[in-house]
Formats: sequence, structure tokens, C-alpha cells
Amino acid sequence: MKNFINISDLSSKELRAIIDEAKIRKLNRKNFNKSAPDKDKPFEGKSMAMIFEKPSTRTRMSFDIAVKQLGGSTIILNPEGIHYGKGNETLKDTAKVLTEYVDVVMLRTSSHKNLEEFGKHLEIPIINGLSDQSHPCQIMSDILTFEEKMGPIEGKTISWLGDGNNNMSNSLIEAAGKFGFKLKIGCPKKYEPSKKIINWAKKNKVELLVTKKPEEAVKDSDCIMTDKWISMNDKVNEKIKKKHLKNYQVNKGLMSKAKNNAIFMHCLPVGRGEEVTNEVIDGKQSVVWLQALNRVHAQKSIIKWCLN
Ligand code: CP
Ligand code: NVA
Repeated sequence: MKNFINISDLSSKELRAIIDEAKIRKLNRKNFNKSAPDKDKPFEGKSMAMIFEKPSTRTRMSFDIAVKQLGGSTIILNPEGIHYGKGNETLKDTAKVLTEYVDVVMLRTSSHKNLEEFGKHLEIPIINGLSDQSHPCQIMSDILTFEEKMGPIEGKTISWLGDGNNNMSNSLIEAAGKFGFKLKIGCPKKYEPSKKIINWAKKNKVELLVTKKPEEAVKDSDCIMTDKWISMNDKVNEKIKKKHLKNYQVNKGLMSKAKNNAIFMHCLPVGRGEEVTNEVIDGKQSVVWLQALNRVHAQKSIIKWCLN
């Protein structure tokens, strides 16, 4: 049984196959209606349960559309409305029950441990729809988007600005190792990647630079990425964190220090005027809406990988 919890759990070959299948499926459904099923309907008669412990627009919508395009159906479960490791039912029992009803589970959780615990007891695959530690589906969609715009990502340079120690930056570091791109992280000392992920990067020979200088992080870059300064999980003094990160805002000046044809990426939701200016996110180099769309296509391949 295959779970999709972290990018680091899969081989480079498996990850590449997921991206390549997403490209082919996307191409094959040109001019289809948005929710019309693919010709082969590989998920026909099957279903996915989605549990959201935290808010979501993109993950919720894109998984729902992905499953429809694969010919299947979804059900969204609100943890408040089900016996989700609460009252007289353990997480293990909830997992056993879901195993009887559906073919795959997607979980967005505040605690990565819940994913592992739930995954241990489910006899069907589980997909990580964002945890406090990683956001692998978003990064897979970002690889797809990068390649659609810029060609093969291997050997290219990606820059990450701002909070260097969140779910997105963790998954991006893992992706750099698996897809072979160079990664430069510009962040203050306080928000550097954790020791655990830095050690993983060293062991996996990731070409990683962590610098306090934003200009150094974006120099010669093919793509500049950032994320909200305050993540859903953050229990921090927001004012202080924003003050620490203010020099890492992606603005026109910083964009001009990357390659001329560099693209700008953001997983959304966005703190406009904080981590990025309106001019950049709404500008010509921004590909943020394509990133949102590509969640559908990347996740279809991820679901297929889980079920194969
Ligand atoms: N990027 C992303 O995961 O967005 P949502 O929080 O809206 O799902
Ligand atoms: N780092 C952000 C990503 C949102 C998609 C968060 O966890 O809130």
C-alpha cells in the first residue's frame, strides 16, 4: 500500500513518473469541460474521503475536481462532525471504518503525527493535504508548473524567500534532492530550515545555499518562491515575526536581480504587501493562478500512484 506523506518517501523515478503522467493527462483533456471525466476514467466507482482540520480553498477544490476527472467521487468530512479520535472512538477505529467505505483518504492536519497514526491503521492509501511539517502536493504541482513554463527543472536554480522553516520550504528542500535542482533560501537566522531537514539535505547531496542576504538568494535564479509569513500553524508573535522577515519581501527590485525570464511562484493564500507586493504577484512574471490549476493535474497522478 502506498501513502503519499512526504516527497522524501518516494524515489526520484516515482516522482518523475507522477509529473510526466500529469503532463500527458493534462494535454489529453484539452477543451474538455472542467469537471468532465478523462476518457479512461481510472477511478470509476471509487471514492476519496477528505478530512480538513484546517481551512482550505485550493486543496479542497482541486482534489474534488481531480477525483471527478478521474471518474470517481469525493466526500468531505469535517472533523467536528465525525468521531475523529474523540469521545469513545480512537483514531485507529475511525481509520478502520473509513477503510471499509472509501478507496483513499486525504488529510489536512495541524499535527503530522495524525497523518502517520491514521496512515498506520488505514488499509487504504493516505495523502498528505498539508501538515505542519510538509506540503508535498503543492510542491509537486509547483514542479509541474515550473516545467510547463521553463522546461526541465533539473540543474535549474530556485530561490525561496522569507520563512525558511515551514511546511512548504521543507517539501521544497526534499524536492531539490529528488529532482536535482539548486535551491537558495534567503531568510533570517531565526527562520532557517531545521537541523533535521538540513541533515537530510546533506545526506542527499542537495545543492542548497542558506543565506541571510536576499540578493544573494535570488541571483541567477530561474524562479522566486515565497509563502505567507504567518502559517496556519504558527503560534508566534505575528508582529515580531513580520518585522524579522520584512527585508525578504519579494518586490520589483528583488525580482530584477534574478534572471530576466525568472518566474514568481506562491502557493496561496497570499499576504499581499507583506511577503510579496501586488506589482509582483499580479505582474507578468507571476504564475500563481497556473499553480493553483495544476494542483488538479498533479494530484490526479498522485492518486493514481497511490492506487497502483
Ligand atoms: N495552497 C494551498 O494549499 O491552499 P489552500 O490552503 O487553499 O488549500
Ligand atoms: N505555509 C502555509 C501554506 C498554506 C498553503 C501554511 O501552512 O499556512
